[in-house]
Amino acid sequence: MKTKENTILITGGATGIGFSLAETLVNAGNSVIICGRREGKLKQAKDKLPQVQIKACDVSMQHERESLFNWVRDNFNDLNILINNAGIQRMVNLTKGTQDLFNVENEIETNLVALIHMSAYFIPLLLKKKEAAIINVSSGLGFVPIAAMPVYCATKAAVHSFTQSLRYQLRDTPIKVFEIIPPMVDTELGKGTTEEGDQEFRGIQPSEVARATLTAMADNEYEIVVGEAKGLVMGARTDPEQAFQNLNRW
Ligand SMILES: NC(=O)c1ccc[n+]([C@@H]2O[C@H](COP(=O)([O-])OP(=O)(O)OC[C@H]3O[C@@H](n4cnc5c(N)ncnc54)[C@H](OP(=O)(O)O)[C@@H]3O)[C@@H](O)[C@H]2O)c1
Repeated sequence: MKTKENTILITGGATGIGFSLAETLVNAGNSVIICGRREGKLKQAKDKLPQVQIKACDVSMQHERESLFNWVRDNFNDLNILINNAGIQRMVNLTKGTQDLFNVENEIETNLVALIHMSAYFIPLLLKKKEAAIINVSSGLGFVPIAAMPVYCATKAAVHSFTQSLRYQLRDTPIKVFEIIPPMVDTELGKGTTEEGDQEFRGIQPSEVARATLTAMADNEYEIVVGEAKGLVMGARTDPEQAFQNLNRW
């Protein structure tokens, strides 16, 4: 797929992997729109990368997803790539019953429902393009779960499954369907909610994920397994029980 002269919407594009994707794609000669909930983060991103368009939007809310789609269709009708990147990650201790489920934002709505609905909103627009793509961000943890983050891992496993089906449904259309499968990346994800205190390795840099994505787009390599995520994907496909035990160290 071409890697320049695309018009691209990145959800959750103001920080982390989303912002690195925005930077890399702008530098490669694309037009990029980013969205996120925090106006301050969007403005900071625009200061660092003035070429991007910004739009505040909470993709976990149905009415906001719909108005984002209408705004993009009316203002950027040439949009041909949607990157579903927005995500949150929470520790959920189910021995406390529902407590951890109801005092935080809804991971299922943000990580999974939003990605499904955004894809469905944009498909009719993308179908009219000569070449288009939907790029979903899952995780190595969608292949081998960490038990302390059961909802996060379940949403990412579902993102992988949904992406496979979507790719098959769209196989005879101009829309290519990619999946980015990152390993641990040094971003804001889960900060303040995970036990990160004395953890030394904070993950690879988000720019590595962005570089791998650009290369994979050029090569039409639809499953973009980055760095250490390769071990998790391979483990899930060869010896899932051992891979689970290795990650969770019983
Ligand atoms: N970091 C890792 O180790 C890692 C590994 C594998 C996969 N991933 C995946 O990579 C993606 C990006 O995460 P990241 O690591 O770059 O973390 P991040 O820096 O926290 O980025 C997540 C972005 O999503 C936005 N977001 C969250 N909820 C949103 C909502 N309801 N509506 C719109 N935007 C929303 C956030 O901005 P606002 O808060 O301002 O909305 C933020 O900009 C996620 O899907 C994550 O699951 C990350």
